This record gives sequence, C-alpha cells and structure tokens, in this order.
Amino acid sequence: MPYERYGTKGADPSPLGQPITFSPSGRTALNRFMKSPMAEGLATWDPKVPHLRGEPTKDLIELYRRWGEGGWGMIVTGNIDTSFDALDDIGDMIITPKCEFRGPRFEKFQELAKGAKAHGSFILGQISHPGRQVQYRLNKEAISASDVQLEPKMDMMFGNPHAASKAEIDEIVEGFAYAAEYLEKAGFDGVELHGAHGYLISQFLSRRTNKRTDEYGTQTVENRLRFITDIARAIRKRVSPHFIVASKLNSVEFQDAGVTAEEAQEVCICLEREGFDFVELSGGNYESFGLKWEKESTQKREGFFLKFAKIISEGLSDDSKLKLYLVGGLRTTAAMLEVLNIVDGVSFARPAAAEPDFPLKVLKEGVTGSIKPVDGYDSIGGNFAVDLGIAKAQLTQTARGYEPIDLSDGEVVKRFQEDIDNWWKNVVADGDKLEYIRAPEYSGPLKLHE
Ligand SMILES: Cc1cc2nc3c(=O)[nH]c(=O)nc-3n(C[C@H](O)[C@H](O)[C@H](O)COP(=O)(O)O)c2cc1C
Repeated sequence: MPYERYGTKGADPSPLGQPITFSPSGRTALNRFMKSPMAEGLATWDPKVPHLRGEPTKDLIELYRRWGEGGWGMIVTGNIDTSFDALDDIGDMIITPKCEFRGPRFEKFQELAKGAKAHGSFILGQISHPGRQVQYRLNKEAISASDVQLEPKMDMMFGNPHAASKAEIDEIVEGFAYAAEYLEKAGFDGVELHGAHGYLISQFLSRRTNKRTDEYGTQTVENRLRFITDIARAIRKRVSPHFIVASKLNSVEFQDAGVTAEEAQEVCICLEREGFDFVELSGGNYESFGLKWEKESTQKREGFFLKFAKIISEGLSDDSKLKLYLVGGLRTTAAMLEVLNIVDGVSFARPAAAEPDFPLKVLKEGVTGSIKPVDGYDSIGGNFAVDLGIAKAQLTQTARGYEPIDLSDGEVVKRFQEDIDNWWKNVVADGDKLEYIRAPEYSGPLKLHE
C-alpha cells in the first residue's frame, strides 16, 4: 500500500516545533528539525577541466527551494569541497580560494541560499575534505593525517595517502575559511564542518588514522583537536559574529583505536570553548558504517547513536550552551520526542530525500513517522550503499520538479530495482572515464509537484 509509514498514532509532535537558540551566534531556528547533509550529485561536472566542476545547477537550486518550503528549522547542504580534485564525489558543490565573490558560480550559490531561506529556514553549507577517502579514480594522491591506506570498500578504491605537511595543513585550513566567508557573502546563515564519517577532520581526530608525533598528533586532546580548532579560528576571523559555526562529529567509531564516546565528549567540550554553536552527532565511517539497526536494542531506540549521544550530553556542564543534534535512523515521531530528552534537535537524511516537506507532515499533519520503504529498501535494516543511490535518485526527481518516488509501493520498487541494475552496468562500464555520473533514473511515471 502506498505511503505506509513507521510508527503508531498518539504522539503530540509540538515539542519538535519549539524554536532553538544558538550561542555564540545568537540566532534562533524555527524548530527542532534539521535536514542532514546529503551529497546531491547535482552540481556541474567536467571530467577534464577542473574549474568547470562544482557550480550549483538550476536543478540543485530547485531542490533547495523545495526543502525551503518543507518546514525545516535548519537545512544543511551536502559536502561542499574546497578543491577541484580532492572531492568527496562527482557532482558535489565546490568552493576554492580561486572562486571569486562575484560571477556565475557566486550568483548560483546566492540563488540557492535565497530559495532555501524563503520560508524562514536557516541554510548552512557543509564544508568538507575527504582526505584519504578520495576515490582513486578522482585522485591517486590523497592527503591525510598519516599514511594509513583505506582498503577498497563499496566497489571503490581510494587514493594513496601521505601525511599532510604543515604547509598543506595551512592551505586546507585556509580553504575551509575562504569557503565560509564565500558562503556568508552569498547569504548562507552558517557552516557545518564535516568532522564525521572518516573524512579528513575525523582522520585527525581518530587514533586509527592519526599516527603523527608532531603538534597535530593524538598525544593530548589539544593536539588531537588542533586541526579542527585551526579551522574554526580561521573561520571566525573571516565571518561575522552572528554566522553559525557548527560541526558534524562521530559520537563513536566501531573499530580498534576508533573514536570512543568519551573521546567525542572531550571534543564537544573543547568545541564549545572554541565558539561552536552546535554539533550534529553521527557515527561510523567507510570502514564501518554503523548506519543500520544492527541490534534489537538499537532498533528499539531508533537513533543508531543515541546511547553515545547520551554519554556526550551528560559530559557537558549544566550551563553548556553547545546545542546537540542527533542523526541516523530516526523514523517515528514518538522516537524523535524521546530523543529530545537527550539532545536539542533531530536530523534526517533519507526521510528528507523521500519527503522534502517531512517536518510539515509531522508538525501540521501529525503523521506517525517517515515513509516505510518495502522490506530491504531502507538500510536501517539492509545496505547503506544501495540506499545512497536510491536517495540520490529521489533528490534528482525533486530537483526536476517531481515528487520523489514512493518506496513503500512494491510495484514502484520492483521497477526501480531493474533501473538500478541497468544503471550499475553503466557505472561499471564508465570505469575511470568519469563521464557516467548521475543517480539512477526511474523509468516509470513520475508525479509533477504542484
Ligand atoms: C544520499 C546520501 C548522501 C549523503 N551525503 C552526506 C554528506 O554529504 N555529508 C554527510 O555528513 N553525511 C552524508 N550522508 C549521511 C547522512 O547525513 C546521515 O548521517 C545518514 O544518512 C544517517 O541518517 P538517516 O538514517 O536519517 O538517513 C549522506 C546520506 C545519504 C543517504
């Protein structure tokens, strides 16, 4: 049956509609909902000419306009990379120090921000550097905290990492700061640093990937945090005091020498001191996602990382002003309300791809939860890599003016699975040519958005 949802009736969603005020920026978001970053794969791409990459397109602007209509307190973009070749993925938005505060790229960022903010949401850009998680076909030479190679995952091979020199660190820090200034000038309300999921900032934070013995090593909390604090200080020098500065962080990494919740707590305490407004707590990385309900106990509390978020939130002082959001696996209104007893806000990726106006559905229509895909098509029980492709397809449909396909409809899913299989053959055939890049297309009828 179409539009089957998670959850049961009876929860009063009003606490999720309460505004939330940040410090030190002093800004107040409409409500507790955050659209979590999703790399959209919709910016311009050229396999050969780097500076033609990463400009927001008409489709991308339309996607953010739709989220802007959707009632989100906070909308965070997908990865915005700070270089034309150290990319998270093809179709990411890109801002490098070579991009000027005028001209077509800048105007597109302005337009994107304007549409996202039209109904009062905040729009934040997620600034990101993949470090050693750069795909080998995009860049054979990767920069990381140390030379710890990432083994192939999800049919991808990764660049060979070397330990960043001080000059390279300074250049990357400058890239983040420049991107923040650019985004503020383009009308964004703030930035979220990508400090989670095994990206470069978390490569510095985690003992698994940081083997350095210099002042950026893991010998002390101060050293472990130096890379992210360098970035935060450089950003603060370039933006106004009411610009929101935040980070996505791993609450835990499920591996040897991976970040523990206690270490993440130390990081949060320091980030508050450094003037961060909020942290979006997530977990896992390419080596171990953690993005599914692996145990019955996780399924019960829904949030994959709630247990770890609790440890972190309890470690903050009573007068702490750092706000915490939780992302990962939240699906029912009842669970979202429970989560608000521990953190300040709730964040969503896949439900935001399936329904760009998910917050309005919860707050105004009182739905019991997000759409429940047919079995096997929501990786909270299955395969996150497949979900990435499905969610990206939905983003593309919204971006072109349609409603995203309904994954609770078995007929739709059956047809779409064939489309995915065909698309995958094209991806494999593309190999290193880097031309076949977009999300799978649904071959059935799509409904126009009214
Ligand atoms: C299509 C897709 C793209 C994503 N891209 C990003 C990204 O650019 N940055 C990021 O921090 N997380 C990214 N994520 C992870 C999500 O933000 C989120 O942490 C994860 O999907 C768990 O939340 P969910 O259960 O609500 O989907 C992505 C997820 C999906 C499905």
